[in-house]
Amino acid sequence: MPTFQTVRGMRDLLDKEAQTFTYTMSNAQKVALLFGFKKVFTPHVESLELLSAKSGDEIRQRMFIFEDLGGRKVALRPEFTASIARLSTSTLKNEPKPLKLFSVGTVYRYDEPQRGRYREFWQSNFELIGSNKPEADTEIILLTNQLMQTLQLQDYVFKIGHIGIIRGILSQDGVDEKTQNAILQRMDKKEYELALKLVDSEKCRHTLQSLIDLKGDNWRGIIDQIKVLVADYEQAKVATENLLEILLLVTSSTEISLTVEPAFARGLEYYTGLIFEVYIPQLEIALGGGGRYDRLIEAFGGEATPAVGCAHGIDRIAIALQTQNANYSMSLGRKVVVIPITDSVKVDALKIAQLLRVQGVSAEFELMGRKMGKALEDADKRGLDYAVIVGERELKEETVVIKDLKKREQVTVPLSELFEKIKN
Ligand code: HAM
Repeated sequence: MPTFQTVRGMRDLLDKEAQTFTYTMSNAQKVALLFGFKKVFTPHVESLELLSAKSGDEIRQRMFIFEDLGGRKVALRPEFTASIARLSTSTLKNEPKPLKLFSVGTVYRYDEPQRGRYREFWQSNFELIGSNKPEADTEIILLTNQLMQTLQLQDYVFKIGHIGIIRGILSQDGVDEKTQNAILQRMDKKEYELALKLVDSEKCRHTLQSLIDLKGDNWRGIIDQIKVLVADYEQAKVATENLLEILLLVTSSTEISLTVEPAFARGLEYYTGLIFEVYIPQLEIALGGGGRYDRLIEAFGGEATPAVGCAHGIDRIAIALQTQNANYSMSLGRKVVVIPITDSVKVDALKIAQLLRVQGVSAEFELMGRKMGKALEDADKRGLDYAVIVGERELKEETVVIKDLKKREQVTVPLSELFEKIKN
């Protein structure tokens, strides 16, 4: 029998890595609470029709699709947004707006595996449904900023654009929606020449090329230049004003590093307004991204409902935390192993371990029945702080021995003082 490996693009997450994931998810949950987002769990499997409706070719071509035993065409979710939009048009249809929903879990895309790109990966996802106000876009950026901050990531920068500006220009020049999507796909991949080849009008090509050349952290200057470029394009002008309003709100409410890139596009097709991604300087891959999608919910048969949201790539955040040597330890402080010297004191030793756990101390029990020397050696190797040694003689005197594994000292203490001694 050969030994089995994980399927290509799928990973086991062990120890340190698993810890960074838990750390990131619990921080995302904290941010959800801070911003008043309610947690929802949706299925990993959804109908193919739902998942492929508005996601765009990029995602459609990478889905894990299969037929279930009942003959239904289904797929593993490649993201959360479609599922949440489905919820908002069905079970949550009559809930007061805005709906603010938070999810976390695995999603699946048949991407080419490499560092930071997997076929099963984790996202924390926030959707804010029902508001077309720039405050809503602002909230999504602010909560992403808050997540990066609470994770203690350093020097992260937001890249910000607005699909309404690009679509506004293309629409006015008569480019149909399908061609617009094809152009945006290429712009997302930075294949600008190929993108511009799909545009017939010389003026439109020139305007787009000028947008492509525009980027920088002096966002006010960039907005002024965009305004000049789109002066003849009504929809693009409105989109630029909207972007300006969002930027003013964001920058007046928090400290944030951002660059504005008006030709920035994202792989998903449903965006209609603001789009953004967040990066750290050490990595070229986005740690998260999102934007406004005002037409997705009506495409799913709901009432026309504006919405904005984002997802954070937990696998990539874990790489970022490791790259920046962040402290993501989830430990409860000092770690203890309780070792009974003989079988006769096993029950008492178990009770002592339990007593420590009740008081919030991480207390392991010697589970291999090893002799003292071997048990201590093992505890030492695994970096535990203390061994609590339970012996018959000490028990009679209502004491135990605490061995400090770091200092290699030991003291006998009354059982009643065990917790205090370990805590201090
Ligand atoms: P997305 O940009 O496709 O957006 O994915 C969000 C994040 O997931 C990315 O920024 C990245 O960190 C991570 N990610 C994407 N692909 C992979 C991969 N193959 N391996 C590891 N991590 C990956 C969305 O999914 C939208 N649903 C976000 C959104 C919500 N927009 C509005 N609402």
